[in-house]
Amino acid sequence: MKKILVTGGTGYIGSHTAVALLEKGYQVIVADNLYNSDERVLDAIAQITGVRPLFENVDVADEAACMQLFRRHADIEAVIHFAAYKSVNESVVKPLDYYRNNLDSLMRVLRGMEAVGCHKMVFSSSCTVYGQPETLPVTEDMPYQDASCPYGNTKRIAEEILKDIVRADGMKNDAHPSLKVLLLRYFNPIGAHASALIGELPNGVPNNLMPFITQTAAGIRPRLSVFGSDYDTPDGTPQRDYIHVCDLADAHVCAMEYLFSDGFSGWDAFNIGCGRPYGVLDVIRSFEKMSGVKLPYEIVGRRPGDIEKIWGNVEKAKRVLGWQAKRDLDEMTLSAWQWQRHLQEKA
Ligand code: UD1
Repeated sequence: MKKILVTGGTGYIGSHTAVALLEKGYQVIVADNLYNSDERVLDAIAQITGVRPLFENVDVADEAACMQLFRRHADIEAVIHFAAYKSVNESVVKPLDYYRNNLDSLMRVLRGMEAVGCHKMVFSSSCTVYGQPETLPVTEDMPYQDASCPYGNTKRIAEEILKDIVRADGMKNDAHPSLKVLLLRYFNPIGAHASALIGELPNGVPNNLMPFITQTAAGIRPRLSVFGSDYDTPDGTPQRDYIHVCDLADAHVCAMEYLFSDGFSGWDAFNIGCGRPYGVLDVIRSFEKMSGVKLPYEIVGRRPGDIEKIWGNVEKAKRVLGWQAKRDLDEMTLSAWQWQRHLQEKA
């Protein structure tokens, strides 16, 4: 049974990925400092899969603690590195915290992997590395563009660190790198597990669209602000490539299988999205249809830093990883609503 370390494994994407890996028979070690998550997520994972992953309450940005974690689990065969801060707004206010946490954690995990001879990593990257692309859909070979926030910069810099390390490894090993790194560039993950036992759990007022919608529908927020209707898009609102978090989790399983195959060495990057754009009003309409709840919203000014439109060309992930998204927007909005209702029933 292959042993995978999932850093940030109690978080939103991490917990869904842990479920997908356990269901495929991988042994999962979850490392998380519970900064933005809750240990009860482990009970939910156990309820869904019948297996409780081994949990390590560790801040992987802490050099000594991270090294000890790897020493305790020296037989780890691969790492999926999610652990990072992820708020665009907060990163603008606290840039140093973001650079320190997101980059230290990556480098410390890489040191740990080096110490125990673990050579395989999936890195949680983002479509934010493309900025506002000049042509759409965006392909993986398009150049990096300035991210509009420190959070986005940490993803781009992390990708560059990983590429440099793979290059150095290749030079040391006669152009045959032993290190294998996959950069998964997520578009906009939304939705929740069909069991409604795990989902997105934002701290305080949500920054992102989907949790704001579900909290508004639940009466926690008075109304949703739609940030701008004067963009050059079909309905005037920004377009995004929304992807169901369970499809995203499945992409990690496919990435794992690819890492363990003989056909791959070095690094590679993949767009992980549905490959089709939706405006904010499309998401609202889908939500209203699937939930039966009329959503109070108002159009307000643009949000600083928002790009106009982005969606991915996802052919490469299909061709190389054998992965493609299966769930549509309605399934995304319905599952997000079911998760919100589950939270209310528990409260
Ligand atoms: C951003 C990041 C992305 C990151 C994600 C999760 C960029 C370019 N994108 O995505 O990398 O993974 O956050 O943290 O840095 N909206 C409203 N009202 C709201 C909230 C959002 O109208 O209350 C609109 C936004 O204007 C946007 C869309 O909904 O058009 C999606 O916004 P959001 O969910 O915050 O994600 P992004 O900003 O696309």
